[in-house]
Amino acid sequence: MKLMHVDASPKGAKSNSRMLSGQFVEMLRERIPALSVDYLDLAQDPPPHVSGDFARAIYTPEEERTPQMRALLEPSDAMCRRVLAADALLFAMPMYNWSMPSSFKAFLDLIVRGGVTYIAGPDGYAGQLARHKVLFLTTRGADLRDGSPFAGMDALTPALTHGFGFIGVRDPWFVDAQPLQFAQPEERAAGLARAQAELAMVADRWAADVMSEAA
Ligand SMILES: Cc1cc2nc3c(=O)[nH]c(=O)nc-3n(C[C@H](O)[C@H](O)[C@H](O)COP(=O)(O)O)c2cc1C
Repeated sequence: MKLMHVDASPKGAKSNSRMLSGQFVEMLRERIPALSVDYLDLAQDPPPHVSGDFARAIYTPEEERTPQMRALLEPSDAMCRRVLAADALLFAMPMYNWSMPSSFKAFLDLIVRGGVTYIAGPDGYAGQLARHKVLFLTTRGADLRDGSPFAGMDALTPALTHGFGFIGVRDPWFVDAQPLQFAQPEERAAGLARAQAELAMVADRWAADVMSEAA
């Protein structure tokens, strides 16, 4: 199985989402010896934000694009190729102001491409990531679970579900580690432990799928 692993936190070695995503990759390695990993660090290699030229180029029909437009789209084309070449996608990120970090949004804006990751046809749009396993691993400072005063403020889960749903992602997994900052140490430890247990369960499921696909 070929995994594309994307980290978005800018906090380097102090990042909880990076620690947890690294642990998940180790869990997968233990279970799937043939695992290969394509790693992308959005803090080291931040994708460009959408420019006016990019917005014009993506909506210009392919055959009408100028050489400049084609050159401008090449990083986006290359990122789409990377994503499409993977069998599984691990996206790890902190929650920022109830949604995704801007680096991850810029990444999403780079890979949602007509004619590449979604195809428009007479019956609507066909997303091209329908075969991918996807895990969104999010870390949150507060606790947004049911019953919490912050429960209704989660704009991250729907943004990821719909953004990636449009390019074909079905039934993604979510592991949300919370509360990791605005809470007592024991609550933070419990939030991490819950997330680690959920990650082990996802790793078990993915490994079982790989075994049954190989059988
Ligand atoms: C700019 C900024 C905005 C944040 N916004 C939220 C938020 O809206 N809700 C929340 O629960 N935590 C928020 N946090 C806390 C982080 O989500 C939390 O500390 C998370 O564990 C960080 O993950 P990391 O260690 O991988 O960077 C915010 C942190 C920063 C720096």
